[in-house]
Amino acid sequence: MKIMHVDASAKRERSNSRALSRYFLERLREERVDVDVDYLDVTVDTPPHVTEAFAIATYTPAHERTAAMKATLASSDALCERLLAADAFVFAMPMYNWSMPSAFKAFIDSVTRTGVTYTHGDDGRAVGQLGRQKVLFITSRGADLRAGSPYESMDTLTPALKASFGFLGVADPTFVDAQPLQFANPEVRADALERARSELAEVAANWAESFAASDTNSREAMTVGEE
Ligand SMILES: Cc1cc2nc3c(=O)[nH]c(=O)nc-3n(C[C@H](O)[C@H](O)[C@H](O)COP(=O)(O)O)c2cc1C
Repeated sequence: MKIMHVDASAKRERSNSRALSRYFLERLREERVDVDVDYLDVTVDTPPHVTEAFAIATYTPAHERTAAMKATLASSDALCERLLAADAFVFAMPMYNWSMPSAFKAFIDSVTRTGVTYTHGDDGRAVGQLGRQKVLFITSRGADLRAGSPYESMDTLTPALKASFGFLGVADPTFVDAQPLQFANPEVRADALERARSELAEVAANWAESFAASDTNSREAMTVGEE
């Protein structure tokens, strides 16, 4: 299974979201999933911010693009290819100021491409091209934004991720939100991390089961084709 794994925390060794995304991939391997990871650290290889040249080139029909426009879009094209080649995504990030890290927003801006990651049907409606991939978002939060918490209404991260990837065809992403971390006492923080690890173990088991089922289906389809 080709898994695109993206980390977005400014922190390295001390990062909880990075540790949790590593934990998830370890669990998948323990579940005997044959994992082929395409790794991207958007804090190191940060996609460029949207420029005027990009804004013009991306909405110019492909056959009308100049060489300069093609060059402007080249890194975004390459990133989109990586997404389209993946079977699943693991996106790990901290909450920053109630939303996503700017490096991850730059990633979204780079991979939301008309004619590439979304196309238009005959009725003019957008059709996202990432409908076959499984998607897991792992988020880490300093505060507790779960239902009933005073910060619940401040969560602009979850709806932003749902909207951005929903537009690209991702209908049912999984969220594992580790919270509260930084702004909680050590016991509460340890409980939150344990809860997140246990949810991740469950997601890994589910993914392993569904990957195994799709392997069996494709093997059966090949056998039928050979007859
Ligand atoms: C610049 C910055 C802004 C943050 N803003 C928020 C916030 O709005 N809400 C929140 O709950 N936590 C916030 N935090 C706390 C982080 O989300 C929290 O520490 C998280 O665990 C960091 O993940 P990491 O360990 O992977 O870096 C912020 C942290 C930083 C550094």
